[in-house]
Amino acid sequence: MILEKDFSFFDWEYLQLEKPTDIYVKKLSDMKEHFIDNSSVLKILDFADLVLYKVEKFEPEKRKGNLIFSVTSLYPGTVGREYFFTQGHYHQNDFAEIYICLKGKGLLLLKDKNNEQVYNFEKGSISHINSNFAHRVVNIGDEMLKFISVYNVDAGFDYEKVIKEGGFSTKIVKSENSKGYKIETL
Ligand code: F6R
Ligand code: ZN
Repeated sequence: MILEKDFSFFDWEYLQLEKPTDIYVKKLSDMKEHFIDNSSVLKILDFADLVLYKVEKFEPEKRKGNLIFSVTSLYPGTVGREYFFTQGHYHQNDFAEIYICLKGKGLLLLKDKNNEQVYNFEKGSISHINSNFAHRVVNIGDEMLKFISVYNVDAGFDYEKVIKEGGFSTKIVKSENSKGYKIETL
Protein backbone atom coordinates (compact mmCIF):
# COMPACT_ATOMS: atom_id res chain seq x y z
CA MET A 1 0.00 0.00 0.00
CA ILE A 2 1.23 3.51 -0.76
CA LEU A 3 0.65 5.73 2.26
CA GLU A 4 -0.06 9.43 2.13
CA LYS A 5 2.54 9.97 4.84
CA ASP A 6 5.19 8.83 2.33
CA PHE A 7 4.65 12.01 0.29
CA SER A 8 5.82 15.52 0.93
CA PHE A 9 5.39 18.52 -1.35
CA PHE A 10 8.30 20.66 -2.33
CA ASP A 11 7.69 24.38 -2.60
CA TRP A 12 9.74 25.47 -5.61
CA GLU A 13 9.25 29.15 -4.89
CA TYR A 14 10.62 29.06 -1.33
CA LEU A 15 12.72 25.94 -1.92
CA GLN A 16 11.41 24.16 1.13
CA LEU A 17 9.52 21.03 2.09
CA GLU A 18 5.85 21.58 2.85
CA LYS A 19 5.47 18.58 5.12
CA PRO A 20 8.81 17.85 6.78
CA THR A 21 8.81 15.15 9.46
CA ASP A 22 11.53 17.00 11.38
CA ILE A 23 13.17 20.44 11.41
CA TYR A 24 16.22 21.47 13.39
CA VAL A 25 18.66 24.37 13.47
CA LYS A 26 22.37 24.51 14.26
CA LYS A 27 23.46 27.65 16.05
CA LEU A 28 26.86 29.18 16.59
CA SER A 29 26.85 27.91 20.20
CA ASP A 30 26.52 24.32 18.86
CA MET A 31 29.45 24.84 16.50
CA LYS A 32 31.81 27.09 18.43
CA GLU A 33 34.73 24.67 18.65
CA HIS A 34 34.75 24.17 14.88
CA PHE A 35 35.75 27.72 13.95
CA ILE A 36 39.40 28.82 13.93
CA ASP A 37 38.90 32.18 15.61
CA ASN A 38 37.57 31.62 19.12
CA SER A 39 37.65 35.30 20.10
CA SER A 40 35.35 36.15 17.16
CA VAL A 41 33.03 33.31 18.23
CA LEU A 42 32.83 34.75 21.75
CA LYS A 43 32.33 38.31 20.50
CA ILE A 44 29.36 37.24 18.35
CA LEU A 45 27.90 35.08 21.13
CA ASP A 46 27.99 38.10 23.47
CA PHE A 47 25.68 39.77 21.03
CA ALA A 48 23.51 36.91 19.69
CA ASP A 49 23.49 33.15 19.17
CA LEU A 50 23.27 33.10 15.37
CA VAL A 51 21.48 30.34 13.48
CA LEU A 52 24.03 29.05 10.97
CA TYR A 53 21.78 26.54 9.21
CA LYS A 54 18.42 24.85 9.22
CA VAL A 55 17.66 21.27 8.14
CA GLU A 56 14.19 20.11 7.08
CA LYS A 57 13.88 16.35 6.80
CA PHE A 58 11.40 14.04 5.24
CA GLU A 59 12.03 10.69 6.85
CA PRO A 60 9.92 7.67 5.84
CA GLU A 61 9.49 4.65 8.11
CA LYS A 62 12.82 3.07 9.08
CA ARG A 63 12.55 0.15 6.70
CA LYS A 64 15.63 -1.43 5.12
CA GLY A 65 16.55 0.40 1.91
CA ASN A 66 14.35 3.45 2.50
CA LEU A 67 15.74 6.90 1.77
CA ILE A 68 15.69 10.18 3.69
CA PHE A 69 15.24 13.40 1.75
CA SER A 70 16.33 16.64 3.39
CA VAL A 71 16.85 20.32 2.59
CA THR A 72 19.64 22.29 4.26
CA SER A 73 19.55 26.11 4.28
CA LEU A 74 22.98 27.50 5.14
CA TYR A 75 23.12 31.23 5.90
CA PRO A 76 25.76 33.51 4.37
CA GLY A 77 28.26 35.06 6.76
CA THR A 78 31.60 34.70 8.49
CA VAL A 79 33.01 34.16 11.94
CA GLY A 80 36.14 36.28 11.86
CA ARG A 81 37.44 35.56 8.35
CA GLU A 82 35.95 32.06 8.13
CA TYR A 83 32.79 31.43 6.11
CA PHE A 84 29.81 29.63 7.68
CA PHE A 85 29.75 25.85 7.11
CA THR A 86 27.83 22.74 8.08
CA GLN A 87 29.48 20.75 10.87
CA GLY A 88 30.34 17.78 8.65
CA HIS A 89 30.21 14.07 9.41
CA TYR A 90 31.04 10.57 8.26
CA HIS A 91 28.24 8.08 7.83
CA GLN A 92 28.31 5.35 10.46
CA ASN A 93 27.42 2.72 7.91
CA ASP A 94 28.55 2.09 4.39
CA PHE A 95 26.03 4.27 2.52
CA ALA A 96 26.72 7.01 -0.01
CA GLU A 97 24.73 10.22 -0.38
CA ILE A 98 23.64 12.63 -3.09
CA TYR A 99 23.79 16.42 -2.60
CA ILE A 100 21.96 18.68 -5.09
CA CYS A 101 22.53 22.43 -4.83
CA LEU A 102 19.36 24.45 -5.47
CA LYS A 103 20.61 27.94 -4.74
CA GLY A 104 23.71 29.85 -3.78
CA LYS A 105 27.46 29.55 -4.13
CA GLY A 106 29.53 27.23 -2.01
CA LEU A 107 32.22 24.63 -1.71
CA LEU A 108 31.93 20.97 -0.78
CA LEU A 109 34.75 19.63 1.38
CA LEU A 110 35.38 15.90 1.48
CA LYS A 111 37.82 14.21 3.81
CA ASP A 112 39.03 10.82 4.88
CA LYS A 113 41.81 10.09 7.36
CA ASN A 114 44.61 11.14 5.01
CA ASN A 115 43.22 13.48 2.38
CA GLU A 116 40.91 16.42 1.87
CA GLN A 117 39.37 17.67 -1.34
CA VAL A 118 37.48 20.85 -2.24
CA TYR A 119 34.83 21.01 -4.97
CA ASN A 120 32.73 23.88 -6.30
CA PHE A 121 29.18 23.46 -5.09
CA GLU A 122 26.68 25.96 -6.43
CA LYS A 123 23.18 26.12 -7.91
CA GLY A 124 22.92 23.13 -10.27
CA SER A 125 25.79 21.08 -8.78
CA ILE A 126 25.02 17.45 -8.09
CA SER A 127 27.55 15.52 -6.03
CA HIS A 128 27.66 11.85 -5.32
CA ILE A 129 29.46 11.45 -2.00
CA ASN A 130 31.09 8.07 -1.51
CA SER A 131 30.35 6.39 1.80
CA ASN A 132 33.93 6.67 3.08
CA PHE A 133 34.17 10.48 2.99
CA ALA A 134 33.19 12.96 5.66
CA HIS A 135 31.35 15.86 4.03
CA ARG A 136 30.90 19.56 4.82
CA VAL A 137 29.41 22.46 2.80
CA VAL A 138 30.73 26.03 3.07
CA ASN A 139 28.70 29.06 1.96
CA ILE A 140 31.08 31.45 0.17
CA GLY A 141 28.32 33.60 -1.37
CA ASP A 142 26.25 36.46 -0.06
CA GLU A 143 22.89 34.70 -0.18
CA MET A 144 21.40 31.62 1.48
CA LEU A 145 22.82 28.36 0.10
CA LYS A 146 20.24 25.58 -0.22
CA PHE A 147 20.81 21.96 -1.02
CA ILE A 148 18.94 18.68 -1.04
CA SER A 149 20.44 15.51 0.45
CA VAL A 150 19.25 12.01 -0.25
CA TYR A 151 20.61 9.18 1.89
CA ASN A 152 19.73 5.79 3.28
CA VAL A 153 17.74 5.63 6.55
CA ASP A 154 20.50 3.40 7.94
CA ALA A 155 23.40 5.71 7.00
CA GLY A 156 23.78 7.16 10.53
CA PHE A 157 25.86 10.17 11.54
CA ASP A 158 29.38 10.01 12.95
CA TYR A 159 30.46 13.52 14.02
CA GLU A 160 32.91 12.17 16.62
CA LYS A 161 35.17 10.49 14.08
CA VAL A 162 35.77 13.85 12.37
CA ILE A 163 36.59 15.43 15.73
CA LYS A 164 38.93 12.56 16.67
CA GLU A 165 40.80 13.08 13.39
CA GLY A 166 41.32 16.73 14.32
CA GLY A 167 38.47 18.11 12.20
CA PHE A 168 38.63 19.42 8.65
CA SER A 169 42.07 20.96 8.17
CA THR A 170 40.88 22.85 5.08
CA LYS A 171 39.61 26.29 6.13
CA ILE A 172 37.72 28.56 3.76
CA VAL A 173 38.35 32.20 4.62
CA LYS A 174 37.77 35.64 3.13
CA SER A 175 40.82 36.77 1.20
CA GLU A 176 42.67 39.78 2.66
CA ASN A 177 41.31 42.26 0.10
CA SER A 178 37.83 40.80 0.87
CA LYS A 179 37.35 39.87 -2.78
CA GLY A 180 36.50 36.20 -2.88
CA TYR A 181 37.73 33.34 -0.76
CA LYS A 182 41.02 31.69 0.05
CA ILE A 183 41.71 28.06 0.94
CA GLU A 184 43.98 27.67 3.96
CA THR A 185 45.25 24.40 5.35
CA LEU A 186 45.94 24.09 9.07
C1 F6R B 1 22.87 13.77 5.80
C2 F6R B 1 23.61 14.96 5.33
C3 F6R B 1 22.93 16.31 5.39
C4 F6R B 1 23.46 17.03 6.64
C5 F6R B 1 23.00 18.50 6.77
C6 F6R B 1 23.61 19.18 8.00
O1 F6R B 1 23.66 12.62 5.71
O2 F6R B 1 24.76 14.90 4.97
O3 F6R B 1 21.55 16.24 5.37
O4 F6R B 1 23.05 16.30 7.77
O5 F6R B 1 23.39 19.21 5.65
O6 F6R B 1 24.99 18.95 8.10
P1 F6R B 1 25.62 18.23 9.38
O7 F6R B 1 24.82 16.97 9.60
O8 F6R B 1 27.01 17.95 9.00
O9 F6R B 1 25.44 19.17 10.51
ZN1 ZN C 1 25.70 12.87 5.20
